[in-house]
Amino acid sequence: MHSDIREIMFSEEQLSGIADTIAEKINEDYGDTDIIAAVVLKGSLIFSADLLRRLKMRVRIDFVQASSYGAGTESGGEIKIKKDLENDVAGKHVLIIEDIVDSGRTLSLLRKELMERGAASVRIAALLSKPSRRVVDVEVEYIGAEIPDEFVVGYGLDLAERYRNLPYIGVLKPEVYL
Ligand code: IMP
Ligand code: MG
Repeated sequence: MHSDIREIMFSEEQLSGIADTIAEKINEDYGDTDIIAAVVLKGSLIFSADLLRRLKMRVRIDFVQASSYGAGTESGGEIKIKKDLENDVAGKHVLIIEDIVDSGRTLSLLRKELMERGAASVRIAALLSKPSRRVVDVEVEYIGAEIPDEFVVGYGLDLAERYRNLPYIGVLKPEVYL
């Protein structure tokens, strides 16, 4: 375990099990429908790599980046698309893959935007959700696990761009924030 980590919340084995469970539901729901996977950068990088390899339909992988937390652990109210998808989503089924739903602002904006572009459907798969932090009500069709209001890092999730490479999800020691 990395010396900045106080506690592991999800081990590699648990994360693999979560990816299995979500992928099974997505495979069931979509059958052999083609999809565009809209991977939300950068946090869902590792999760999406695990999830996508478990999907059986034909998938186009694309990337989108929204402005979010900046360097700290609190998000501002305004969200913008920083890097857009390359695919035209009109008439396509889009699966958004996100690391964690916090206020819900990012996903609410993304879903609205993709629907406005004429996507045939938009569903969301998120590894984690912090229901107690929700400010905007957004439906998330596939959720890996709900967690309390604690800041977590690893498996793609960062604090000021660090710790994304940890293979597990953990909670940082308090002194790391000083
Ligand atoms: P929302 O728009 O407030 O739902 O913000 C979601 C984004 O905030 C996620 O994609 C993450 O980048 C970031 N975020 C929220 N909670 C955490 C956390 O506990 N650790 C790391 N990033 C987080
Ligand atoms: Mg982040």
